[in-house]
Amino acid sequence: MPCNCCEIENNTFTEVEAKANLRDYRRRGPAKQTRLILAAVRSLGLKDAALLDIGGGIGTIHHELLNDVAREATHVDASSAYLKVATEEAKRLGHEAQVKFIHADFTDVADELPQVDVVTLDRVVCCYPNFRELLKAASSKSRKAIALTYPRETWYVRIGLKAINFFQWLRNNPFRVFLHSVNEMEALLNAEGLEKVSVKQLLIWEMALYRR
Ligand SMILES: C[S@@+](CC[C@H](N)C(=O)[O-])C[C@H]1O[C@@H](n2cnc3c(N)ncnc32)[C@H](O)[C@@H]1O
Repeated sequence: MPCNCCEIENNTFTEVEAKANLRDYRRRGPAKQTRLILAAVRSLGLKDAALLDIGGGIGTIHHELLNDVAREATHVDASSAYLKVATEEAKRLGHEAQVKFIHADFTDVADELPQVDVVTLDRVVCCYPNFRELLKAASSKSRKAIALTYPRETWYVRIGLKAINFFQWLRNNPFRVFLHSVNEMEALLNAEGLEKVSVKQLLIWEMALYRR
């Protein structure tokens, strides 16, 4: 997938979907799992932080954190439609000078990016087959912390994701969702010098905050 990730994500995360997400965000604020990430990052007590949001979608995390915690953000996304909507919203909020938008598979560009204080991945590892490569690259960019959300390893999530993948297969769509092992993700982040300091669970999503 890494070589054609952007093409797959572009076809999956379309402008129609991005605009619908933006409408929801403007009406109801950040989604529940995103709120968990925002609270976790705020709990670090940082000011003027530099953020890296990988697969940031419409940019909710930096739209919110640039109001209090962060001074600058980099948003890397494989979907050009999401990036377009995120850029327009950042402009509307007066944040355009503080956010750098990069259209890429993060694993392809990670080496060129500087380290930041906090890295976030909200519902991203489940869109990417090689979580090791993704999380290793993400942790190499984090000076202080990583906050991420991913699907919980429950029987109903397992069945739900299998059903989604079955319909993707029927539609001949190469995009798949992945239920990566939480223990394996934790072992990898531990090996990169990060320690889990907080976990919160919703019905489908789990959020974990790791600190260096
Ligand atoms: C399910 S969406 C989540 C968007 C947003 N974080 C949210 O929670 O609303 C997954 C996002 O991750 C992006 N993505 C997946 N793999 C990526 C990668 N390797 N590099 C950059 N972006 C990636 C997709 O393009 C998409 O925008």
